Amino acid sequence: MRRPLIAGNWKMHFTVPEGLEYALRLRHALEPFADREDIVVLPPSLMLWEIANVLRGCPLEVGAQNASWEDQGPFTGEIAPKMLAGWCHYLLIGHSERRQLFNETDEQLNRKVQAAFRNGLKVVLALGETLEEHELGRTQEVITRQLSAALYDIDVKRAADLTIAYEPVWAIGTGRAATPEYANETMGLIRRLLVGRFEQLGTDMRILYGGSVTPANARSLMDQPEIDGALVGGASLKQTDFTEIVRAAAEVDRPA
Ligand code: 13P
Repeated sequence: MRRPLIAGNWKMHFTVPEGLEYALRLRHALEPFADREDIVVLPPSLMLWEIANVLRGCPLEVGAQNASWEDQGPFTGEIAPKMLAGWCHYLLIGHSERRQLFNETDEQLNRKVQAAFRNGLKVVLALGETLEEHELGRTQEVITRQLSAALYDIDVKRAADLTIAYEPVWAIGTGRAATPEYANETMGLIRRLLVGRFEQLGTDMRILYGGSVTPANARSLMDQPEIDGALVGGASLKQTDFTEIVRAAAEVDRPA
């Protein structure tokens, strides 16, 4: 059975004091659900260390939204996965905002995946098609390319440390989530690609859905057999909304 994972991507929101106060509130609200699922918050890097301390000793985990592919050196403004090693649990790689606004390429993302694994981090690899690609019927081709490029030369033994987040770009921040059936179908394709790449281990890997997940649609999305959790943006910034999404994941009955 795949254990659900709910991750809240705070993107570039909250000041440091606001983020710390919010993390403390989440800790109290979400701890009761942590025996049924993994819960991760992805704060801005500036407050990541402090928030990891606030959450120490509780089952909520932290992740970074981005990091370099280098371990150290003259890379002004970057943070290295090596700096995250040992206390930060996850690294999000390949978010569409990184791909589109910061021009991150498939080749760079592959180097980031390698660097994350080299430093003992778990990876959430985000991928998904743009609206134009969607309308041109290129979803399958785009996802196949993004997945195989990001995982080039990655050791099969890393499968357990890798989660995929399917985030159709047209659904991010638009209030227009993919239908559960469409998401499930595309994630079924990702599952087949993972099994092709990682064989039996591919069936145990988690695939999350992201893009306008709300308390209203979370349950219907997570009822789908291929949807193992969610990568949540806007709704992760509100305690009540995020808690309801976490609750929805806890309530889904999954076959053993
Ligand atoms: P929204 O939930 O705001 O659509 O954002 C999704 C996302 O980009 C999570 O990484």
